[in-house]
Amino acid sequence: MKPTGRTFIISGGCSGLGLATARDLHQAGAYVALLDVNADAGKTVIQQFGDQRVKFFQTDVSETSSLEAAVNSTVEWIRQTASALVGVVAAAGVGLPAKIYDARTESPVPISTIDFVLNINLRGTLDLIRLAVPHMVKNDPLTEDGERGVIIMVSSSAAFDGQPGQVAYAASKGAVASLTLPLARDLARYGIRAVTIAPSLFDSAMTRQLPEKARKSLERAMEFPVRAGNPEEFSSLVMQSVTNSMLNGTVLRLDGAMRMPSKM
Ligand SMILES: NC(=O)c1ccc[n+]([C@@H]2O[C@H](COP(=O)([O-])OP(=O)(O)OC[C@H]3O[C@@H](n4cnc5c(N)ncnc54)[C@H](O)[C@@H]3O)[C@@H](O)[C@H]2O)c1
Repeated sequence: MKPTGRTFIISGGCSGLGLATARDLHQAGAYVALLDVNADAGKTVIQQFGDQRVKFFQTDVSETSSLEAAVNSTVEWIRQTASALVGVVAAAGVGLPAKIYDARTESPVPISTIDFVLNINLRGTLDLIRLAVPHMVKNDPLTEDGERGVIIMVSSSAAFDGQPGQVAYAASKGAVASLTLPLARDLARYGIRAVTIAPSLFDSAMTRQLPEKARKSLERAMEFPVRAGNPEEFSSLVMQSVTNSMLNGTVLRLDGAMRMPSKM
């Protein structure tokens, strides 16, 4: 499916992997609706893009009412642009490291920590998809195959080899990986594909928060190339996932053959 002249919703679209994706899609002539909780970043990004093919909707993906408002506003926008909603890239995500039991305080991880991570990474992903799909199934077929759209989700190496302190994050990203095939099966009759990308260490605001020691240790675990990925390498796989109709129901590791070690 070609992205040109068509609309994509990108959650977490104002930073890191989501922003690189928004840039590539926009560069390819697509309309991009950026859903992000960070209003300041949204303002800056809108100025940088500087044309009518981008919109920012301040959104908390963990709140259904907020997502509903953003999807409805996007649908209102595409009525004006006559550019069908053909894609969702669910890139909003957070990591909040915490071991299941804290030896120092002799207490378990607060349930609020688990809820926070699952509500954004898992519930927020499914909720956005759930709200976007009813609009996408009504698209006229875009290709000879009858394709109507694509949903791209973001998992993580933590889905497969989560480190100490990653139980909540790994649970959220493992679930995103697991739901990819049933989502593709649910949507096959409408010609809508589902693809999940599972990055290892990529340079972004999220990973810049890592302590230097942890970041270096992860970089050393890369087989080749021995460095963090850059956001453009992520977005280039998103572009391939949009344009290559045979990519469906699969989880693509994008990780330089890295397997995360147990110890830093
Ligand atoms: N960078 C990596 O190494 C890496 C590796 C594996 C997976 N990921 C995943 O990639 C995705 C993008 O992460 P990134 O590295 O670009 O991080 P990032 O922090 O640069 O970007 C995440 C974006 O999500 C937004 N966001 C956070 N909570 C939100 C909420 N409740 N509602 C709406 N927006 C919200 C943030 O404001 C930010 O703009 C995440 O799902 C992350 O888990 C990243």
